[in-house]
Amino acid sequence: MIPPGHWLGMLGGGQLGRMFTHAAQALGYRILVLDPDPHSPAGAVADRHLQAKYDDSEALDELARSCAAVTTEFENVPAGALDRLARAIPARPSANAVRIAQDRELEKSFLADNGFAVAPFRVLKCAADCADIPPGLLPGIVKTARLGYDGKGQVGVGTAADVTDAFRGLHGQPCVLEQRVPLALEVSVLVARSASDRTAVWPIAENRHRDGILDVSIVPARIPEALAAEARALGLRVAERLDYQGVLCVEMFVTTDGRLLINEIAPRPHNSGHWSIDGAFTSQFEQQCRVLAGLPLGDTTQHTPAVMINLLGDIWFDAPAAKATREPDWAGVLADPRAKLHLYGKREARRGRKMGHVTCLAGDVGAALAAGARVKRNLGIPEV
Ligand SMILES: Nc1ncnc2c1ncn2[C@@H]1O[C@H](COP(=O)(O)OP(=O)(O)O)[C@@H](O)[C@H]1O
Ligand SMILES: [Mg+2]
Repeated sequence: MIPPGHWLGMLGGGQLGRMFTHAAQALGYRILVLDPDPHSPAGAVADRHLQAKYDDSEALDELARSCAAVTTEFENVPAGALDRLARAIPARPSANAVRIAQDRELEKSFLADNGFAVAPFRVLKCAADCADIPPGLLPGIVKTARLGYDGKGQVGVGTAADVTDAFRGLHGQPCVLEQRVPLALEVSVLVARSASDRTAVWPIAENRHRDGILDVSIVPARIPEALAAEARALGLRVAERLDYQGVLCVEMFVTTDGRLLINEIAPRPHNSGHWSIDGAFTSQFEQQCRVLAGLPLGDTTQHTPAVMINLLGDIWFDAPAAKATREPDWAGVLADPRAKLHLYGKREARRGRKMGHVTCLAGDVGAALAAGARVKRNLGIPEV
């Protein structure tokens, strides 16, 4: 066990790294953030910001000398960097888990090979793979295998010809073609697994997206308990099969015929788990710190129903065509005594950029949803 007072390393300086830093500092750890951006949200609050690229071997060695263990806030960190760090200090999650989660082809194959239900798919590596598309895969979505997020790197396709066009349009990089499945709703399962193989799971989140970006998470999800239990069991099984150490999020589809399909996995805390900061005994970020430091897992019980509203950069603009930004008027949000405003300290607001979130707490989900709707109206965020 690494006791409080020691240094912990974080690869990545975005909002997830920032919220981890807050939680770990509350426990008494000192945090070194590695991120090339001089204005990174986590770098601004860390005890030390090492400003260098993720594959800078001198910076990685410096991190390994300074820190007792290291974790990551995003899956696109070079797995080789984690490998290098893991030779010197505990690195959680492992480079292997990150390698799988950062590549849709490896991820889908891992899931399918381990018997998890996923949307029917085909790997597209060259133009020839776009020929003879089985009609069952259409209409579908072509997704780049790497570096996609918030719906970026995805093209909807209706015909076999569209698949070829989409693959070319994405510059022929490796892609996955997935059948577009009829969704009743989307849910996610957040699990934690410790170095001594203990596990914990939070209640299921029900997620609504707008333009491919998470808009609202409702916790607990309004689904039958049997389906929630199945989703939790699936999430835990994914963590076990990956021999995972850390906090892991498994995004799932609930199909219109009531089946659960795994969409993707994130080897880190997740946007749909932000509610846990205010609504659970242990937040996903505190838990990430606990696993990293080898502390016992915290209690993941939810104490208050919660609705989380994402704040995108769009609300920093007066009108859809406006060029200049201004600070949104927070007065209405702050007037709700149970609305928790979280801002990530990003210097520049851009449309579609995650700038913060609000978690509305209430006695039941219905009241939390009503509070969430008021937050949206106040800030001019469209209802889906
Ligand atoms: N096969 C699919 N069928 C139906 N909807 C999908 C499918 N794949 C993705 N989507 C929609 O697009 C969103 C983003 O896709 P996802 O694969 O999760 O990529 P990202 O990495 O951008 O989160 C999903 O949350 C879902 O709303
Ligand atoms: Mg996703």
